Amino acid sequence: MDFPDFDKNNYDSQWERFQNLLWYDKHLEMWLDISRIYFNDSDLKHLDEPFQHAFTALDLLEQGSTANKDENRQVGHYWLRSPSLSPTKEMADDIRAEIESIEQFGSDIIKGNIRSETGKPFTDVLWVGIGGSGLGPLLIINSLSETNKGLNFHFIDNIDAFGISNTLKELSPKLTTTLFITVSKSGGTPEPRIASQLVRSYVEKEGVNWPNQSIAITMKGSQLDLQASNENWLRRFDLPEWVGGRTSITGAVGLLPLSLIGRSGNEFLEGASKMDQLTRQRNILSNPAALLAASWFFAGNGKGKRDMVVLPYRDNLEVFSRYLQQLVMESLGKKLDRDNRIVNQGLSVFGNKGSTDQHAYVQQLRDGLDNFFATFIEVTEKNEDIPSDNGENPNDFLSGFLQGTREALSQGGKQSLTITMKRINEHSLGCLIALFERAVGLYGELINVNAYHQPGVEAGKLAAKDILVLQSSIEELISHDKYFSIEDIRISTNTKSSETIYWIMRHLSDGDKVFEVKGSWKEPNSLRFRRSPQINS
Ligand code: PA5
Repeated sequence: MDFPDFDKNNYDSQWERFQNLLWYDKHLEMWLDISRIYFNDSDLKHLDEPFQHAFTALDLLEQGSTANKDENRQVGHYWLRSPSLSPTKEMADDIRAEIESIEQFGSDIIKGNIRSETGKPFTDVLWVGIGGSGLGPLLIINSLSETNKGLNFHFIDNIDAFGISNTLKELSPKLTTTLFITVSKSGGTPEPRIASQLVRSYVEKEGVNWPNQSIAITMKGSQLDLQASNENWLRRFDLPEWVGGRTSITGAVGLLPLSLIGRSGNEFLEGASKMDQLTRQRNILSNPAALLAASWFFAGNGKGKRDMVVLPYRDNLEVFSRYLQQLVMESLGKKLDRDNRIVNQGLSVFGNKGSTDQHAYVQQLRDGLDNFFATFIEVTEKNEDIPSDNGENPNDFLSGFLQGTREALSQGGKQSLTITMKRINEHSLGCLIALFERAVGLYGELINVNAYHQPGVEAGKLAAKDILVLQSSIEELISHDKYFSIEDIRISTNTKSSETIYWIMRHLSDGDKVFEVKGSWKEPNSLRFRRSPQINS
């Protein structure tokens, strides 16, 4: 198809380009406009062959190939919403049974058929999980929970004692009617493992019977699974080995929160499955995931040279940019390509929401560096609960701000694309998530990286270990009968870096008063430490 180049001053050619490149699906009531990404007809033709390989790779992945070769596993999140595609009948039956049991459990909790030990219905959920085990549920709750419907959600997605303490204080009057849900595919990630244990110790002192109020979502046979099974926790749900954390939202990780807020998991799965079907087409222009992947390729020269700024003009999609940040950056941000060549690939994602961000960083987008492309998300459904005042209608203003910003970016020579949806509900959220999951899959193939492993994350999980071992040796070393310099500690602990010792001593010296400190933190060589005389070494 021939379409004109984008010309910011020629509205007739812009209109022609818009019409030629516009994707719309009347069943999903969804639009995608990539006409303001700069590429021409021949650029698109050049991508056709790489795309055909990418489509084949996705087909093979759906058929059960070991698509994640480094971890030697299949990549099966697409089966979660289309169980009949799974490689074996047994897997398909397991997926269906799991969906049914989650729906049933959620409905029993909401109707009060399953109650807390006090005889009262459950009121709250404390969700402990990080990364893929935390962001999906957070997105679901932020996008779809309604006031006075279902349970109230609280999240612990970090090992910050201040955050944990605040959350527990908030929950304090309702601890006996709270469901404690620990989510970790591996079952051993330090943050959720430690946080869950800390929460448990705290709430047990407050009279909570942990096993009766606790749920584990994890891989069969993991440390967490065994614990939940041995202690007979209220429920266990499966996070299959062949589902990656950041694509687990169409499994128990997303379905359980949906059911506990009285929303339909089946609708959510149906939306995702419809988008999967649509994006199996091999014609780039009729495949919205291919159009997105092509846009990322053109905007960033296939090397992530421009960041993706995600701007949904809806409060309830505020978490979506964070969700995408993980999905895209953890999948595409890779040092090596599939042929083991150093490529340092990626696509940076940030964002929040419009029009709020127009009063923050959008200033730079409009007038400053050309190092990004915007991804606008528009939702056309209007809310009439808030009447117009003086003819000023909030729905119209929000739309006007989006359109105005899109145009201003184009006038400033900045690229953008826009996804438009009728409304946000289970179905459309499922579509939106699947759209990006498949765009990531296709783009990963175009740039030849394994989008399904996360070596950096795995390395990060071990990052604290060496430091904590060193910290323990320092704590053993420092006595109260003599002062130690940074250099004394470094030599005694056989450590290469003085800076590491400085960081550990700064951490140890704050708060608990175990160490006496002489000297100035500004002049590290002047520092001397000893154990406070009143504390036994
Ligand atoms: O997407 C991923 O694989 C990661 O972000 C994981 O979800 C995250 O590290 C948490 O892992 P786990 O669920 O094993 O605790």
